[in-house]
Amino acid sequence: MKKLKPICTALVIAFAIMSCSGGDDSPTDTTTTTTTGGSGGTTVTNPTYTANIKSIIDNNCVSCHGPGGENASVPLQTYAQVSAKASLIKQRIELPAANASVMPKGGKLSQTNIDLINAWITNGMPN
Ligand code: HEC
Repeated sequence: MKKLKPICTALVIAFAIMSCSGGDDSPTDTTTTTTTGGSGGTTVTNPTYTANIKSIIDNNCVSCHGPGGENASVPLQTYAQVSAKASLIKQRIELPAANASVMPKGGKLSQTNIDLINAWITNGMPN
């Protein structure tokens, strides 16, 4: 039985090293703007207004932020209109769903769409 002790010690050390190196595997790149977009699950790097953002706004915002809508006075139908409101849009879509000021009013975008809009703004709002 005496020979078991060093083996046990060696095992304990081996496990300690393994669990330490395992902890180093966490992703370090937190600045990535790569997002999974849409139902197709395609990876979108550098979203643009035309390719990615317009359809999100059209589907979720223009019913109110367009002609005859509840907030037609703040239209969100063109690149110029949306980019001019970008910082306000960012604030509103990130509010908790229960907040009375969240946009779209009365709901919340999917996290995928919120990430896409934020990445678009961070990248300088390419058209
Ligand atoms: C059901 C109607 C409705 C929908 C859908 C909607 N909004 Fe709004 N939105 C409003 C109303 C009404 C206001 C004005 C009241 C307020 O500020 O909360 C407003 C205000 C805003 C404002 C503030 C504008 C300003 O100049 O003060 C922003 C920005 C905004 N909405 C963005 C969005 C975005 C982005 C979406 C889609 C993701 C969206 N809204 C969807 C009704 C809507």
